[in-house]
Amino acid sequence: MLEGPSAVLRRPLAENLLFRLPADVLINLSETYGTPYFLIDEATLRRNARDLRAAYSDYSGKVSVAYSVKANFLPRILRTFWGEGLLFDVATLEELYFLERSIGSVERSIYTSTTQTYREFSRAIDMGVRRFVVGSSNGLRNLARAAEDRGVKVEFLLRINPELVPPTDERFYKMGKFGVPIVDEDGEDAVALIEAASELEWPRLTGFHFHVGTQVTSPSKFVRALDRLEELITIARAEGRDLEVEVLDIGGGMPVIYTQGDPGLEDIAPRIIERLNSLADRLGSPPDLVVESGRFLVAEAGVLTSRIVNIKRYAGLKYAFLDTGYHNLLDAAFVRQVYPIRVVPEDGHAEERVVLAGMLCDSDDVFPIGNGVLRGASLGKLVVFGNAGAYSTVFNMPFHAQPKPPVLFRDLNGNVSVARPRESLKELYEEEGGLN
Ligand SMILES: Cc1ncc(COP(=O)(O)O)c(C=O)c1O
Repeated sequence: MLEGPSAVLRRPLAENLLFRLPADVLINLSETYGTPYFLIDEATLRRNARDLRAAYSDYSGKVSVAYSVKANFLPRILRTFWGEGLLFDVATLEELYFLERSIGSVERSIYTSTTQTYREFSRAIDMGVRRFVVGSSNGLRNLARAAEDRGVKVEFLLRINPELVPPTDERFYKMGKFGVPIVDEDGEDAVALIEAASELEWPRLTGFHFHVGTQVTSPSKFVRALDRLEELITIARAEGRDLEVEVLDIGGGMPVIYTQGDPGLEDIAPRIIERLNSLADRLGSPPDLVVESGRFLVAEAGVLTSRIVNIKRYAGLKYAFLDTGYHNLLDAAFVRQVYPIRVVPEDGHAEERVVLAGMLCDSDDVFPIGNGVLRGASLGKLVVFGNAGAYSTVFNMPFHAQPKPPVLFRDLNGNVSVARPRESLKELYEEEGGLN
């Protein structure tokens, strides 16, 4: 059982859950539940929550950690983080439903949707949400109307788009989906929304939000976003606005170590805190800080275990075919994410060049291996992927009529139970309209 945050935040890859799990546990579970299966570890979830909060303890104000439900909405995970006192970053009404059903309360949620419609704001207010993030003029009008129609006092954070990439970069337009720029010639900008908010009694503008990306390995993006925010505050004050920033939500992005030597949380948090503290000094009093996180909180707490079901040789390479594919770990194909990998049982074979081929009829279904070599990847062995707790099960899809694998949950006493049962083929058939 874990007490408090781990003493040393910098964790070498060798301390990753993947390598800490005893081989016989992984093998026994594969015999009981079959492969592929996901396993989520409660102790690692709790440790991550405490480590993230501890990493920001030098901030001069209050710090809260919010779990980004999008990373993994497994009810057991939501309940674990509720028990750790976390807030919840919720992006859709459907995620809100999961929170409500799992915990019985949505009071700790921050509702940050992309679409910001009247319908969803109304429903979220009816369900009990009181804090929203808004990043468009229409969104603000919709929230104001939804709150007024219900006679409910709600607050909102204004989502700024810190425009960290130039317009010549294709990501500029993709990122344009989120938030409002500080100043824009069309006039739909943060300065205008602050003015619009000042004319409303409700929702009350209590602070600001931005999100600079995921797996952010350098503090500079956060620092630049905070620079932009300070610019905005300077403009607003110069216009005579008495702007009080009670809450500052710096979004997600805290990094996870996938490959030895990757920067970790402790490499980037101190510089972010330094900049936050200088902003707080400028503001006069430190806003309550919200640090959101999906990946850091759950990635390392999950592994995906698969089995080598066939082998062939081609062009001097060994192809090891797995009983899983990107339908279970989409980012392996989508962003060519290199997950840490372990072959179980380990034995003394020499390293050899291996292609880890997924089971799907798609040439993109090949799992990237860091240096291209594995040890002992032979028929019947398990291939276990680490850091598989985030953005994995939420993307599971039924390509090739594949039912969803089970998600097992290992509690603080090391007992394993089924959190999400393996979907049966019959269930999938019926879901796909097989009975109609
Ligand atoms: C607004 C917002 N907050 C938090 C997150 C979580 O990011 P991460 O999982 O990298 O911590 C995301 C991810 O897309 C996001 O869009």
